Order: sequence, then structure tokens, then C-alpha cells
Amino acid sequence: MPASPQRPPAAVLLLLVSCLSGSLSIPDPRLREALIQLEDGMQAGGKIKLTDAEKRLDDQLFKMKQEEMGRPDFLPAMHFFKARDLIRASPIFSVLQKMPKGGALHLHDFSIVDVEWLVKNVTYRPNCYMCFTDKQSVRFIFSSQWPKPRPQCSPWVLLENLRAKTGNTTELDNSIMNNLTLFTDEDPEAVYPSQDVVWDRFEQTFQAVWGLVTYVPVFRDYFYRGLGLFYADNVMYLEVRVLLPELYELDGSTHDKTFTLKVYQDVTEQFTAKYPDFFGVRFISSVPRAVNVSVMTEAVEEAMKLQKDFPHIMAGFDMVGREDKGRPLWYFREALSLPQERGINLPFFFHAGETDLEGTDVDQNLLDSLLFNTSRIGHGFALLRHPVAKDLSRKSKVAVEVCPISNQVLKLVKDLRNHPAAVLLSENHPMVISSDDPAVFGAFGLSFDFYEAFVGFGGFKSRLGSLKQLAINSIRYSSLSPVQQEKALVLWNTKWNKFVSENAL
Ligand SMILES: *[C@@H]1O[C@H](CO)[C@@H](O)[C@H](O)[C@H]1NC(C)=O
Ligand SMILES: *[C@@H]1O[C@H](CO)[C@@H](O)[C@H](O)[C@H]1NC(C)=O
Ligand SMILES: *[C@@H]1O[C@H](CO)[C@@H](O)[C@H](O)[C@H]1NC(C)=O
Ligand SMILES: *[C@@H]1O[C@H](CO)[C@@H](O)[C@H](O)[C@H]1NC(C)=O
Ligand SMILES: *[C@@H]1O[C@H](CO)[C@@H](O)[C@H](O)[C@H]1NC(C)=O
Ligand SMILES: [Zn+2]
Repeated sequence: MPASPQRPPAAVLLLLVSCLSGSLSIPDPRLREALIQLEDGMQAGGKIKLTDAEKRLDDQLFKMKQEEMGRPDFLPAMHFFKARDLIRASPIFSVLQKMPKGGALHLHDFSIVDVEWLVKNVTYRPNCYMCFTDKQSVRFIFSSQWPKPRPQCSPWVLLENLRAKTGNTTELDNSIMNNLTLFTDEDPEAVYPSQDVVWDRFEQTFQAVWGLVTYVPVFRDYFYRGLGLFYADNVMYLEVRVLLPELYELDGSTHDKTFTLKVYQDVTEQFTAKYPDFFGVRFISSVPRAVNVSVMTEAVEEAMKLQKDFPHIMAGFDMVGREDKGRPLWYFREALSLPQERGINLPFFFHAGETDLEGTDVDQNLLDSLLFNTSRIGHGFALLRHPVAKDLSRKSKVAVEVCPISNQVLKLVKDLRNHPAAVLLSENHPMVISSDDPAVFGAFGLSFDFYEAFVGFGGFKSRLGSLKQLAINSIRYSSLSPVQQEKALVLWNTKWNKFVSENAL
């Protein structure tokens, strides 16, 4: 991959000069063709030579895309909540689902499993209690005894009893599901009129789900099911931002972070034993950016220790939560410098530039994340407004993790044709596609986000080569060691060739 945008070849420049100085009134068509090819070659996958079978599949995909683009209801321009079922029924989506997409590098621990399963399976387990908060939300706990009252919440009710008393449990279950996701059948623009409203509800969903998923037996099942959902969507590897909560047992006793990480490791091993063509999972320990300096310092210390004790599954460190309302990276500069000062390896994977407010302290996060040698940039939505950060990210191969549906639902962009990653894709900037919090957005796996990227900001220009490049990028820009990357690429390549031969007519 070239480190900087290619210069036009000499022949093109010569043509350009002769054209400008000549007397032709119509520009030279050869020059026009040369410029078109030059631009095409610069985009993601522009330099990939397709095999004959790939070319046939590419032609089919292009025809599907032409039909898709001709629809009166252009799906990437619609809110995902309205477009979801239509996308799911589209022929392009079914190809994208079958396509081996490599790795999902930007995900959060408690938003990878469908809320339907959480309600229909988890909340039906015995000893599940629920209370109602002042903010119209719900909280849960599993307990062998009647749990102690929770501040700002109604008295606990045993769900089993509540269901026995409720006439229509479908309605109750639907309202619980509504608490765990942003997805709605109503008009999303009316339900979520502003970034503040949508972020508030977004944060509520994580609190609502907390008591359900941090119970040890559920935690195991949840993660195993999450892996299954990605595997079924032809994703072979994950890097997950994890809060590493203290998990609890039915008697109220709790475990430490090491235990949580070990459970993750166990479940991953159990999954890969059953599905050996799943490559694995690595974890990015994360802390809410709302904490104070002393908590952050402690979190960095803890992450250094985990990184040392679990080097094969720990990828590094990040901060989570709304950037616009949280503290900027620079505020934590001392804590974040600790690893470097002590000569300890703790790679960073910072969320940065998930904002549309230019020039704020938070907007500065992009440059600061690069100053702190971040390994990748989470979102980087504001990258185009920072030419120096963009250049640095390209030159040092710090990939941008683009999550189109997340950016749309959280109201940074409406029509996904206008997503800034259109520019990144057109110049083969280091980037990957990911899904951030698929369950909260009513999605799963990676295919919906690939659809939005491919049909939305990819337009007519991005074709099979771009998809192949994005999949390869997801391994090349992962935290895997070079040796593991080669192994993963071999595995991915086998899957890719099978996919092409099975789908090219
Ligand atoms: C609940 O989920 C678990 C784990 O996925 C599964 O083994 C079990 O059969 C499910 N139970 C029901 C009632 O669906
Ligand atoms: C329960 O409520 C759901 C959703 O409102 C409705 O579709 C269903 O018909 C109701 N079932 C009964 C038995 O009333
Ligand atoms: C959450 O669930 C409760 C209880 O079923 C319900 O009253 C409330 O409206 C739900 N809140 C949301 C935001 O869906
Ligand atoms: C930082 O936050 C923690 C947890 O909320 C609190 O216990 C501690 O007192 C705070 N420290 C400072 C210096 O404010
Ligand atoms: C980032 O990397 C550069 C070059 O390797 C190094 O000089 C610098 O100290 C690093 N900064 C941090 C905060 O790790
Ligand atoms: Zn995120």
C-alpha cells in the first residue's frame, strides 16, 4: 500500500501539458480516460488485480448495484431503522452476508447480542428481578434472596411474579426490549430529535442491560452467542472494547477483572474448539472518559498489568462514552504517558473525532490520539477537517475504524452518501468498517455496515476490489502480530476463494 497519494504518471502529465498548450477546443479523450483511470487506481482496492472468477462476480455485483441505485427509496439515504428490513431483503445484502469480511475491529462488549434473546431467554431465567427507574427505564439483578433496594428505583419485582400477574406478557416483553435498544418502529427523527436525546437513551440502554449481562452464567452465554452471531455473518475475528466489570454470582459475591478476562478467554477457546475456522478475539480494556484523573491513572496501571499477564488476548487500552460530553485526551495526558515513561507496552486504540463540532477541545482528540501513538482511530468522523492528523494517520498507517450506522443513528450524518469516509475510501486511506454497537442499533454482525459503506458512500465506484481491500485491511490493521496476521490472511484467503467460486456465475 503506498504511503502517500500517488503522483500522476509522467505520461498523464505530458498529455495534460500538451492539452493545455494545444489548440484543441475539446479536451483530449485520451487524457480524460487517463485521469479517470488514475483516480480509479487510487481508491481502496484500486490496484488489486481481480481473477477471472472475481471479475464475473464483480460484474454481477455491479448490475445489482445499478438496480439498487435505481430504486426510488435509496436506502443509505434513509434512517437505518426505516431501511433495515429493506436492506435485509436486498440481493446485495445477501452477497455481503456471504462474503468473508475478515475482522470486526470496533465493537463494545454489551452490544453484540440481539435484545430479543436477552428478553426471551435471559429474563425468563429463574431469580430475575426488575425495578423501574425515575427516568422510565428498568434495571435488573439475579439474586437468590430478595435483593436490597436500589437508589432511584422502585421496589424490586420478581419477573416471574410480574409475568404471572400481567395479562399480556408480549406487551411487557416488548417494553423491556425497548429499554435495551434504540431501535424503534416509530419515526426515529421524532423519537430522537437531537444528539443529546439520542445519547441519553443510548447510555440508558447500557445501564438497563448491565445487571442482566454481568451475572456470571449469563455473561458466558452472552459472549458465546455474540461470537456465534458474528461467525454466522462471516466475520472470523473480533477486537472488542471491554469494560471488564466485576461479575456477580447468585449469592451476591463478585469476582475481579482478571476473572472476567479469563471467562472471555475460556469462552473464546470453547468457541474456536467448536468452529476452528474462527480465528479468535482480542480485547481492548476500556474506561469511561467521564472519570477523574485518579481513576484514570489507576485504570492505566491496571491495563498495563493485564497487558503483561494476558499478552496473547489483550490488545490495549481505550476510553469510552460520549466524546462531546467527556473529558478530552489531553486532560489525561499524565496518566496516558505512564506506559511510555516506564517503558511498558500498552497500545492505545482511542476513539477520536466522533464529533461534528469543529475546534472544540474534544475535536483536538484526533491530533492528540496520534501524539499518543494510537494504533487505530475509533470513528475519526472529523478527520477530514484535520489535514495534519489525516496525513499522519496515512503515513503511519493508523487505520480509521468507520462505523456508518452508528454515526447515522447518533446523528452525525443523515444521508450515508455524505459520510466523510467517502473521501477516505476514494484515496485508499487506511480504514476498516465496523459496527460499534450493532444490537443497540437493531443490527447484527458487520453486513449492514458493509452495505451502507458499499452502496452509500462507496457509490458506483466501489466494487469488489474495494470490498476485498476492506476485508484485508481488517486483518492488516488488527492488533495481531505479523506472524498471526499471515496465518489469518491464509485462512481468510481460503474463505474468500470459496466465496468467489460459489457465487460467481
Ligand atoms: C437460552 O440460551 C441458552 C444459551 O444460548 C440455551 O442453551 C438455552 O437453550 C436457551 N433457553 C431457551 C429457553 O431458549
Ligand atoms: C398481546 O399484545 C400483542 C402486542 O400488543 C398483541 O399483538 C397480541 O394480540 C396480544 N395477545 C393477546 C392474547 O391479547
Ligand atoms: C422500559 O420498560 C418499562 C417497563 O416495562 C416501561 O414502562 C418503559 O416505558 C420502558 N422504557 C422505554 C424507554 O422503552
Ligand atoms: C475520583 O472519583 C472517585 C470515584 O468516583 C472518587 O472516589 C474519588 O474521590 C475522586 N477523586 C478525586 C480526587 O476527585
Ligand atoms: C510515540 O512514539 C514516538 C516515536 O516512537 C516516541 O518518541 C514518543 O515518546 C511516543 N509517545 C508516547 C506518548 O508514547
Ligand atoms: Zn465505539
